[in-house]
Amino acid sequence: MRYRSVRGMHDILPAVIGRWKVVEEKIKELMIRYRYHEIRPPLLEYTELFKRGIGEDSDLVGKEMYTFPDKRGRSLTLRPEATASVIRAYLEHGIYATEPLQKLYYLGPMFRYEKPQKGRSRQFHQYGVEAIGSIDPALDVEVIDIAWALMEELGLSGLSLRLNSIGCQADHKQYRQELKDYFATRLESMCEKCQQRYRTNPLRMLDCKEEQCQVHIQSAPASVDHLCFDCSRHFDRVRDYLAQLNLAYVIDPHLVRGLDYYTRTVFELISSHLGAQDSLLGGGRYDDLVELVGGPSTPAVGFAGGMERLILVLQERKERVDVMARPDLFIAALGDESRPLVISLAQRLRRKDISLDIDYRSRSLRKQMGYANQIKAQHLIVIGPDEIAAGTGRIKDMDSGQERKIPLTAEGIQNAIGK
Ligand code: HAM
Repeated sequence: MRYRSVRGMHDILPAVIGRWKVVEEKIKELMIRYRYHEIRPPLLEYTELFKRGIGEDSDLVGKEMYTFPDKRGRSLTLRPEATASVIRAYLEHGIYATEPLQKLYYLGPMFRYEKPQKGRSRQFHQYGVEAIGSIDPALDVEVIDIAWALMEELGLSGLSLRLNSIGCQADHKQYRQELKDYFATRLESMCEKCQQRYRTNPLRMLDCKEEQCQVHIQSAPASVDHLCFDCSRHFDRVRDYLAQLNLAYVIDPHLVRGLDYYTRTVFELISSHLGAQDSLLGGGRYDDLVELVGGPSTPAVGFAGGMERLILVLQERKERVDVMARPDLFIAALGDESRPLVISLAQRLRRKDISLDIDYRSRSLRKQMGYANQIKAQHLIVIGPDEIAAGTGRIKDMDSGQERKIPLTAEGIQNAIGK
């Protein structure tokens, strides 16, 4: 029997890792510029954290979590997202005591039991930022600026930023009622899921992609028309700052996002290259989450993006990204008796920061030289009984074809390579 990976969980193979590294390095470098510190929460949390933080009525918590009991019967969940974990860590370790505004970022795998399709898997990776401890609309704009900066610096085009404000809890309540009143007379012609959502969480109805529901959704009331004075002013400021920074956006009056913790600003960055799963990243404010999971009232804003989706878009450009630079050297061994010297030279040179390979498959000298060409080694040395007896060998520069006689020591080879 041949084993296969679990459905919806994919190996990231060496052939594509180059792109991942480019993106990861770019993210890390951006985070230093914007001064976000890395945080690495565990993959498992107590289920209660997500139920409380994300909301039991959300699809994510209701249907998509990998939840199981541990050996003592406590319910654990593989994290479906990281915002709740970051807030848990922020509170558990009192990180805010040192600096009330904490700007954090993370990279790592998340798990959601969703139907796998292009751009959607059950294990996927997110990069995300969370700025915790300020209500300043300039911070909403800073995280949006990070999102745009990343895309620009990766050279991506065909993107649009959808923006909306869903207001505070009091605004939600009013908006929810407004939606219920609006959909009440249309419910019969809407899909079964929407009829269910009408009872549990009418905001979710706005996400429905069914054609029969779309006609009704398009003329549904907009959340921005139900904002209180403070939320409305906050949203005005966000738009002013976005304009000042020349950051493009379109208002999407029905953007509500799938997680229940959002307040005020919500946004998604959409790519026209992705098909149905077109959200490259999404986020917003969540001013009540810290309090909801047991902390003091603390406003916060952030976003997360899917690495796989970013890689998918980058792949369309078809550029090859090699992470392995050309090795400095290949040492070919002629005969078994040369192996001890080859092995020890390889070890000493690698410790001196020289990248090299040797043969581990008892190949003929001709095949070893063919392999040195294949991996594009910059230099080649052949070590056989004659070289060992003389204590000298010849190093060949593979680009120019020139050969030089050198002492067969790590230092001699290192000097010849010029490193
Ligand atoms: P989310 O919208 O659920 O938000 O996920 C953010 C991004 O993760 C999506 O835009 C998408 O790129 C990617 N993603 C989500 N599910 C999948 C999947 N099954 N397969 C592949 N990619 C996926 C959050 O997770 C929030 N925690 C974001 C946030 C941070 N809000 C505030 N701070």
